[in-house]
Amino acid sequence: MDHKELMDYAVKASKQSYSPYSRFRVGAALLSPSGEVITGTNVENRSFGLTICAERSALTAAVTQGIREFEALAIYCPDADYPVAPCGACRQVISEFVSGDFPIYYRGGGGETVGMTMKELLPSDSLFELKEESRDTP
Ligand code: THU
Repeated sequence: MDHKELMDYAVKASKQSYSPYSRFRVGAALLSPSGEVITGTNVENRSFGLTICAERSALTAAVTQGIREFEALAIYCPDADYPVAPCGACRQVISEFVSGDFPIYYRGGGGETVGMTMKELLPSDSLFELKEESRDTP
């Protein structure tokens, strides 16, 4: 599956966004090695700090399904006219499960898609190497 098709899943997921406070819908789609797509959307809360981003929503759904390996991530934000990169918290959480060359594509309502690698978005992390060793543990 190419990144355009994966983005279509992110577009669909963004329609499920629960974002009454920010009015900023986000959809995320993760591609598994077997071609399965796991999606997520942002879920806000009246206690604002409890909001979960679309990316972490997709990731936790995937892990819950037993999927811990990923080929690509697509993120769609229809309410921005520029491509919206994942937030710092999501970069950290995604990096737990992927290697540095993992591709992340993001697009806003404007249409332009930006493609970056995990390492470009999170160039240095003191614990980055641990991920490889801990992936198969509970
Ligand atoms: N949001 C995401 O879901 N992912 C991002 O990468 C950026 C921010 C959500 C959180 C909140 O519901 C809304 O967008 C505004 O910040």
